[in-house]
Amino acid sequence: MSSILETTDLSKTYPSGNSQLTVLDAVNIQIPTGSTAAIVGPSGSGKTTLLGLCAGLDRASSGRVILDGNDITSFSEEQRSELRRKSIGFIFQNFQLMPNLTAIENVMIPAELQGKHGAETLQRAKDLLDRVGLDSRMQHYPKQLSGGEQQRVAIARAFIHQPKILFADEPTGNLDEESSLLIEEMLFEINKELGTTLVIVTHDNELAQKTQHLIKLKGGKLVSV
Ligand SMILES: Nc1ncnc2c1ncn2[C@@H]1O[C@H](COP(=O)(O)OP(=O)(O)OP(=O)(O)O)[C@@H](O)[C@H]1O
Ligand SMILES: [Mg+2]
Repeated sequence: MSSILETTDLSKTYPSGNSQLTVLDAVNIQIPTGSTAAIVGPSGSGKTTLLGLCAGLDRASSGRVILDGNDITSFSEEQRSELRRKSIGFIFQNFQLMPNLTAIENVMIPAELQGKHGAETLQRAKDLLDRVGLDSRMQHYPKQLSGGEQQRVAIARAFIHQPKILFADEPTGNLDEESSLLIEEMLFEINKELGTTLVIVTHDNELAQKTQHLIKLKGGKLVSV
């Protein structure tokens, strides 16, 4: 089976006083196309860092990331954002909704960035908000939504352009049990329906166990599971 995502000795260091702080240390992972994976590990172990490097949001200090056949470590900023627009969905740990746009406008952003402004996009955005249980919150601005509701808008937004791979940083971190299960079901349904590869950072063991590949980090290193 071919891999949609592969890292080779991926490392990230930050300057810290006179020395370097290694937050990701020679990580090698392979995620088969269409599969589901969970990244787990204690707070500060490098999960968000790894996700950001794999999605081309951040640059590695050394090592390589091959995403959908592209060596993104050699890509320019412009090439990486083009690839993100086309093929990648991302749910941030802190949502990053646009405060001056309503829920439905936020959901439509990735499609509009691809030039899709039409009625079809609007309908898809409505369907997605409906699916995350926010059909009566479409015209709300982020500050008028609860944390969990904002998280669900971010999830709907990540799917609007039907990405090949979805990176989700604790997508159920702020949700109650019922909403968490709804979101989990939706993520796995979309994985099945559209073949979207899922890479999910989570502290939720039950969610992690439902995925096909477990990636465990400790102190920036991969630990075998
Ligand atoms: N810009 C930065 N400069 C210096 N250190 C950083 C920077 N960004 C992250 N770090 C450090 O990298 C380490 C890993 O951070 P990361 O956000 O990847 O952890 P995490 O596993 O996602 O943790 P959590 O579960 O709390 O979200 C942390 O110790 C953090 O302090
Ligand atoms: Mg994190």
